[in-house]
Amino acid sequence: MAENRLSPPVLLAPMAGITDLPFRRLVARFGAGLVVSEMIASQEMVQERRGTREKAELDADGAGSAVQLAGRDPHWIAEAARMAEAMGARIIDINMGCPAKKVVGGMSGSALMREPDHALRLIEAVVGAVSVPVTLKTRLGWDDTNHNAAALTRRAQDAGVQMVTIHGRTRCQFYKGHADWAAIAPVSAALDVPVIANGDIVTPSDARTALAKSGAAGVMIGRGAQGRPWQLAVISAALYGAPAPKIPQGSALVDLVAEHHDSMLAFYGQDLGVRVARKHLGWYMDQAGTPAALRREVLVAKSAKVVRMLLNDALSDVGRCAA
Ligand SMILES: Cc1cc2nc3c(=O)[nH]c(=O)nc-3n(C[C@H](O)[C@H](O)[C@H](O)COP(=O)(O)O)c2cc1C
Repeated sequence: MAENRLSPPVLLAPMAGITDLPFRRLVARFGAGLVVSEMIASQEMVQERRGTREKAELDADGAGSAVQLAGRDPHWIAEAARMAEAMGARIIDINMGCPAKKVVGGMSGSALMREPDHALRLIEAVVGAVSVPVTLKTRLGWDDTNHNAAALTRRAQDAGVQMVTIHGRTRCQFYKGHADWAAIAPVSAALDVPVIANGDIVTPSDARTALAKSGAAGVMIGRGAQGRPWQLAVISAALYGAPAPKIPQGSALVDLVAEHHDSMLAFYGQDLGVRVARKHLGWYMDQAGTPAALRREVLVAKSAKVVRMLLNDALSDVGRCAA
């Protein structure tokens, strides 16, 4: 995949429970080179377990969205990849980085870094199943004694993987400490396909430093976009000359959050939607510096109507002063 096809090379990270269709859509609207779905368990997707397919749901045109698959069985992951392609996925991303015990216990996610031969079988199965590009997301290695990302991803590239994202931590680090961007450099040096640096990149200055230290072709942003769906566009403008986003403030922010909330309720249904949307509301309020008592009130509200009524005070300084 030519680098310039992901332009700007500032990508939204897959995050389970977070990068659903409403959030991907919002981030894409501000501007992103690519947005990635939540991790989807392959067998569950093929067997239509409740709630699994929704995670892969794409806009009608599939614009810009990759679907990330996790799995351990070449048959199921290939089937799920075919299905995601048919649903309009622009890219199939294979998860080899998830450190969660539930996933690693099933010997998928980052556990695959310890079994490169098996990992290759999965990659070959997916590459053989679809005609859209296949990409890989992984970590530096299992632990500090075994940084095998360069060797593993080199083999993945030879098997047809067209882009690799490295989260600059090991599996055993989970999310502790700080991502080691320089440790991604050997991967960038070993591969001909684009390497994307990930981990703890929030600001344009972080992105510049991460690119310089890693030699990567682009950056992937996860938690930095929580409560700030415009943050990828901010980085794209600073580093790649993309149009600078208008960062919503005051009533524009209230409108944006209300729209995000409404779209989550439409996507998940009223009851589940109100619950799933709370974490996003919390992040927006963290950014806005909402007073603790008001924050609590918003987060325990059981109806969309009440949330909507409180948002003005919670997010807009004007509303707060007038209260
Ligand atoms: C809540 C949460 C869920 C995540 N889910 C996934 C996932 O489904 N697939 C994946 O490859 N990585 C997942 N990640 C890891 C992120 O994609 C990313 O690699 C990590 O958060 C580091 O980037 P950041 O510092 O920009 O957030 C998740 C991270 C978080 C915090």
